[in-house]
Amino acid sequence: MKKTVLVTGGAGYVGSHCCKAFATAGWNVVTLDNLSRGWRDAVRWGPLVECDIRNSTGVRAVLDTYKPDLVAHFAALAYVGESVADPAIYYDNNTRGTLALLESMRAAGCSRVLFSSTCASYGVPKHTPIDETHPQAPINPYGWSKMIIERMLEDFGRAYEMSSVSLRYFNAAGCDPDGELG
Ligand SMILES: NC(=O)c1ccc[n+]([C@@H]2O[C@H](COP(=O)([O-])OP(=O)(O)OC[C@H]3O[C@@H](n4cnc5c(N)ncnc54)[C@H](O)[C@@H]3O)[C@@H](O)[C@H]2O)c1
Repeated sequence: MKKTVLVTGGAGYVGSHCCKAFATAGWNVVTLDNLSRGWRDAVRWGPLVECDIRNSTGVRAVLDTYKPDLVAHFAALAYVGESVADPAIYYDNNTRGTLALLESMRAAGCSRVLFSSTCASYGVPKHTPIDETHPQAPINPYGWSKMIIERMLEDFGRAYEMSSVSLRYFNAAGCDPDGELG
């Protein structure tokens, strides 16, 4: 039986490439994106549900319909400079949005999440190369908005048996080698 992944932010840059990678690996892929910063045309490996992660009713309906085995969570605002100028929208969209998403998942009995965190949670490097054990000390609201989510996921794991992995990757660049995505 094919497994199903719900990719939040799947119409964005990293999310759309991951949709392709999941589909290539044999998963059913469903994208949830509010298209605030994504591209409808980038959603090619399964249905697009136009919805905001903060819309609990909408997200719950998607979870009940597709019953995903995993939520791959990429939906976020992701500009450091913008987060310094207007931190409220980062804590609202990223942090509150993720709490709403996790609560919808809990209500729907969906307990596995792959979280797209960020290298910005490390802050100024104390040593290089930076590895997973490097201390996390963000220096901007974007980094904090993601690091709080990492903590939230740890707590949800302990209390509600939600299993998660947080990927703190560095800046991605480039296009799809097959030329299917920019
Ligand atoms: N691009 C990088 O190099 C990089 C590096 C590390 C981590 N990340 C993380 O990866 C993720 C994707 O980054 P990206 O560069 O592809 O950004 P992007 O802006 O291209 O994609 C983000 C997607 O999320 C959607 N979105 C935003 N808020 C939403 C909400 N409230 N509800 C539903 N959809 C929403 C946008 O419409 C967009 O399609 C982000 O979480 C970002 O923090 C990116």
